[in-house]
Amino acid sequence: MAIKPRRSVLYLPGTNARAQEKAKTLSADGLIFDLEDAVSPLAKDEARACVSHTLTNSGYGHHELIVRVNPLSGPWGHADVKAVAKLDIDALLLPKVESAEEVEQAKEAYLAAGGREDLPLWIMAETPRGILNLDAVLGASTSIDVVVMGTTDLAKELRVPPDSERLGLLNALSHCITVARAHCLDILDGVHLDFLNSTDFDSICAQGRRLGFDGKTLIHPCQIAEANRAFSPNAAAVNHAEKVLAAWQEAEREGKGMVVVDGRLVENLHLEEAKRLLELHTAISGR
Ligand code: COA
Ligand code: MG
Repeated sequence: MAIKPRRSVLYLPGTNARAQEKAKTLSADGLIFDLEDAVSPLAKDEARACVSHTLTNSGYGHHELIVRVNPLSGPWGHADVKAVAKLDIDALLLPKVESAEEVEQAKEAYLAAGGREDLPLWIMAETPRGILNLDAVLGASTSIDVVVMGTTDLAKELRVPPDSERLGLLNALSHCITVARAHCLDILDGVHLDFLNSTDFDSICAQGRRLGFDGKTLIHPCQIAEANRAFSPNAAAVNHAEKVLAAWQEAEREGKGMVVVDGRLVENLHLEEAKRLLELHTAISGR
């Protein structure tokens, strides 16, 4: 499967037609049209209609288009899934997932409404139960493509202060990354709410990158450039990957099983990672 850059994935409130229009011009890799947390209970019908209208007259270029529906256990989820089934989108995002059954039910409801069999599902990991069950949830469905951390809900559930250090979240974040990778899936970091006052958004993105996330979910356009920068392979990494690839090809020609690049032993697994990184770099350069 071709690598998809998912460095920056921006939430768009379902009722905000202006933001949805503006998003066409923004350099986020993905856009989440939100029918859930960003929409008040009184505006759910309006949001569904607004998102349906926007995505029927699309024009979003390279952006990956995702709709986040409400939970099917609540009063709005079924109507959301029915509306989404008619839209040309890249993925459906299910919030607050805690069990494999919920994912199955959402998929059945989506298919019953006329949706396509091969639509990828993205799921939110944002409750303690959902995080403890993540391995079973991912193991039970071949439709899931991406895990999205819901750090705002999670911080509330864990009673963790909303600071930039995120000490109380680190265990859950690392656990979810390990589980996502065990299923060969992408995983995205949660949002940073304090978008106006943030002098440390670069270190927040860097922390997510170092933990192992593929990208970050965002709430405001001013966060896109930094996320794109933080989650792109930097020039030194690209240069090193090119050297690894070239050295490996030369070693193969010469029948050598060992390669040393810049004084470091390079093994087959490094070759795989170098290829992945260069593929990601090529995909990003094409944007
Ligand atoms: N996506 C696209 N465009 C956005 C945007 C978003 N999430 N947030 C703001 N913009 C646009 C505005 O439309 C405005 O553009 P314009 O002047 O060309 O019309 C520009 O960016 C500046 O907006 P600004 O005035 O700074 O923000 P705001 O006060 O209007 O909105 C928020 C601030 C936080 C309410 C808004 O960014 C937002 O709704 N974010 C998403 C929240 C969300 O989805 N939460 C749920 C998941 S956590
Ligand atoms: Mg949430």
